Amino acid sequence: MHQEIIERFNSLKEKQISIDITRGKPDKDQLDLSNDLIDISIPTSSDDGADLRNYGEPFGIIEARRLGSELLNAPIENILAGEQSSLLLTYQTVLSNFLFAEPIPWKNLKNPKFICPVPGFDRHFMMLEDFGIEAVPIPLTDDGIDLNAFEDVLKTGDDYVGILCVPKHSNPSGEIYSDENLKKMFEIGSQYSNKFLFLFDHAYLIHDFLPTPEQKPLWQVVEESNVQDQTVVTTSFSKVTFGGGGISFMATSGHSLDLIKKVRTTMIICPDKLNQKRHVEFFKNVENIKSHMKKHAELVRPKFELAYDYLKKLPEECGSFSKPTGGYFITYSTSKPIASKVVKLCKDLGVLITPAGSTFPKNYDPNDSVIRLAPTYVSKEELADAMNVFTTYVEVAHFERYKIFLHFLQKHDKRVGLFLV
Ligand SMILES: Cc1ncc(COP(=O)(O)O)c(C=O)c1O
Repeated sequence: MHQEIIERFNSLKEKQISIDITRGKPDKDQLDLSNDLIDISIPTSSDDGADLRNYGEPFGIIEARRLGSELLNAPIENILAGEQSSLLLTYQTVLSNFLFAEPIPWKNLKNPKFICPVPGFDRHFMMLEDFGIEAVPIPLTDDGIDLNAFEDVLKTGDDYVGILCVPKHSNPSGEIYSDENLKKMFEIGSQYSNKFLFLFDHAYLIHDFLPTPEQKPLWQVVEESNVQDQTVVTTSFSKVTFGGGGISFMATSGHSLDLIKKVRTTMIICPDKLNQKRHVEFFKNVENIKSHMKKHAELVRPKFELAYDYLKKLPEECGSFSKPTGGYFITYSTSKPIASKVVKLCKDLGVLITPAGSTFPKNYDPNDSVIRLAPTYVSKEELADAMNVFTTYVEVAHFERYKIFLHFLQKHDKRVGLFLV
């Protein structure tokens, strides 16, 4: 086996690889699916006569909100259609509560805290850090959050203001929250406080590429649990049409809706209504969006399957990997605390992976175990090379063969070779 790893390494080294699998971005062929959007012809006014070229309709044009209402299964009066970024809506939600939440704005709390299932999305943690809100991690299970951990954490204090979840194809480990898990989360959270905010980033709502367990529409579960005023759901077309060039949606109600309207009224006069109209004309209805997403699935699935094929070959004792049925990421969990080492070794050979730890608050993975792989934004050939490097180095690090390798690096050229014990 040593000889086999050396040969693998040497052939990869000769290729002078430079591959970046850090971020979950759509690849060019996926973007091409929406090219007709670029020069689609649209009228100058919305269905109810608003001039798309001028200021107005701060919460989105009626037909975009109608589409959002179908997509999120929420009444149109609860829907806001925004700019191109759902992350911005999430940020504005936190900002609005920070400044204006009633009865006490979060900024006036001594130590406001948010519960964050881990592993999670690095930008969520960065956002909470911006506000000085502590992100308190709880584990994820196969069907959602660890409810016992959630309950236990809430028992420890009064300053918890909310929870931030990606309820489908969770970034990065792909969990799909069950309806039961969500209902129980609502029950526990609203018993803790009727101001506790359930913030859902539904970025991967329609991004299945393999058969996926059914979920009730989230807003339906929200209504059944009677937590509409405490819930905010966001989503966007960033991975439906163009990365950073789609439109975003939010569903919320009551006080939460008032807050977001208040903060947005100061910040932005109105979203880009022309882009909203282009998207509505392009898709027309949710059925067409779903057919469009099937085309994405055809392009994305082979890359995930290719990555799984490499990961399957790793000895089981090295670790385990998530096998998501949608979304943009795979996680590999090493059984030894070697994630940072693996990421560093891969970088030395030209494969960039999201820094270890970044899927945890404060970049701290207590087990130094979780590695996020993003297989979409590279060709299959590049992905094969990247996975080859990755799996080689998982084995090298797991079996502690890197010691001699590192010793060698200090003395010689960085990319010269690999020595095994
Ligand atoms: C969980 C999650 N939320 C939000 C985003 C960004 O979405 P948007 O472009 O709509 O801001 C991403 C992109 O990677 C994501 O993974």
